[in-house]
Amino acid sequence: MEFSPFHAFSICVFVLVSVAITQRRRNYNWKDSKDGEYVYPKVLEGVTFIKVIQRMAAGQMPQTFYKWAKNYNKFVYLVPVSFTRVAAVVGDPEILKKILTDKSASKPTLYHRSRHIHDGGTNLFSENDERWYHARKSIIYSFSPSHVRRMKDVTVEKLNDFVKHMDSFQGNSFDVGKEMIKLTLKIICDAAFEYDMSIEEQNEFLTELEIVLKENRRGSIPLRWKLGKLIPSVRRARLGSKRLAALGARMLVAYRQIENPTKGTVMDRIVNDKKYKSDKERINDMLILLVAGHDTTAYSLAWTLKELARHPAEQDKLRFALLNVSEDDRYNLKELTNVIKEGLRLNPVAAAGGLRVCSKDIVIDKHSEGSTPIVIPKGTAIFLSLMMCLHHPDYFHDPDSFSPSRWEVEGNQNDAYMPFLIGPRNCLGQSLAYAEIRTVLARLIAEFEFSIEDEGSNEFFATYKPIGCRLIAKRV
Ligand code: HEM
Repeated sequence: MEFSPFHAFSICVFVLVSVAITQRRRNYNWKDSKDGEYVYPKVLEGVTFIKVIQRMAAGQMPQTFYKWAKNYNKFVYLVPVSFTRVAAVVGDPEILKKILTDKSASKPTLYHRSRHIHDGGTNLFSENDERWYHARKSIIYSFSPSHVRRMKDVTVEKLNDFVKHMDSFQGNSFDVGKEMIKLTLKIICDAAFEYDMSIEEQNEFLTELEIVLKENRRGSIPLRWKLGKLIPSVRRARLGSKRLAALGARMLVAYRQIENPTKGTVMDRIVNDKKYKSDKERINDMLILLVAGHDTTAYSLAWTLKELARHPAEQDKLRFALLNVSEDDRYNLKELTNVIKEGLRLNPVAAAGGLRVCSKDIVIDKHSEGSTPIVIPKGTAIFLSLMMCLHHPDYFHDPDSFSPSRWEVEGNQNDAYMPFLIGPRNCLGQSLAYAEIRTVLARLIAEFEFSIEDEGSNEFFATYKPIGCRLIAKRV
């Protein structure tokens, strides 16, 4: 990383501000109750703020939180997020449920980083209160069963072209993440926005988005984005942000020129929702939905295909089941459901889960850490670690292994299964995500045999991704 005068300046400001705040507030000296009635989560020994930002900047944060949970055998703990402040990291399913369904829980300002995707202003993902509420209420209608059926038909149509594209590889390897991204981007553009994105626009969108998201993960470095004119990579990301916003604006103009647009699409709901204060707000929500609606589904598919390629016996078992029923019956097949659940569990794309702040103390009686109630004081930033929750050893035997059959046995595994989170801020597009994953996986596994050429690496920026994983697909 280049070291500029700006770095020196921001480090000085940061140290001075931190020292000043330390004198006023050391909020992690929480004391457990004297009578042992309740305890607070603890900072893990040896885990420092520097270690936390290093892991964050390296794209390894959710994996590291899980590693620490395993090493210390603690699924709720504290980490320093500045020299004076701590955040709670929670991976215990019962505690997660309590926080996610608590009416006082809201999203903290850290979510404002998602505004970099659309060059400022607000979006439904980052906001609380009315700005979020009206947009969510309006758009959720587009994910009702009848609309998801229509979107499923779009998926089938795009998949026909994609299968021809797969045939063109003729046994040569392909990057599974990149190919799934192209497919899901096509689907969401058509199904939600009635927009036919050209290849050039697709390339521009994906390139600029990657630049912005990679810069975003360095966001813990104070004032970096705001004062970053001296830092070339921030300048470049700000340009990316403007280009993405311009693409959103073009999509809106194109939509308004359609003579008979389909009723009830995401775009229809956004364009006709009078509660938006401006087209800029509309474009912001379109871009957030475009991002949330392709990357997550694409990488969930990519991870699942990768695991099936690594486990040929599981792949054969699924194919055998698919080929033994009619095409119509494949969609709801039990074996397909088990593979999808296991794929979403083992490598959750939303591995970091989310962040919440509660405006009242959260008291949790039932949890896996012991019998004494745990208290998370009001105002604490809480990392809701899905990576930890979906690998919790009390709920998943041998949690790091790919084992679709775990969903066939009786147990408590469903109590911890929440890859889309739960509560009022759960995933808006989960019905579409399931429809796409079922449709794509059923067809690809029925028609192709996948093997692995290069495992690639695992990285987290905005989502947990298999980077550079190369598969080979052979017609069965
Ligand atoms: C496998 C695919 C997907 C997974 C695992 C997933 C997961 C999640 C999770 C965990 C959240 C909560 C994030 C937080 O609180 O910080 C979320 C929120 C959201 N998701 Fe998804 N998602 C997926 C697909 C989609 C799709 C296809 C769309 C839209 C087309 C979508 C749109 C959204 C939106 C708009 C939110 C914010 C909702 C709100 O704040 O009210 N997601 N998603």
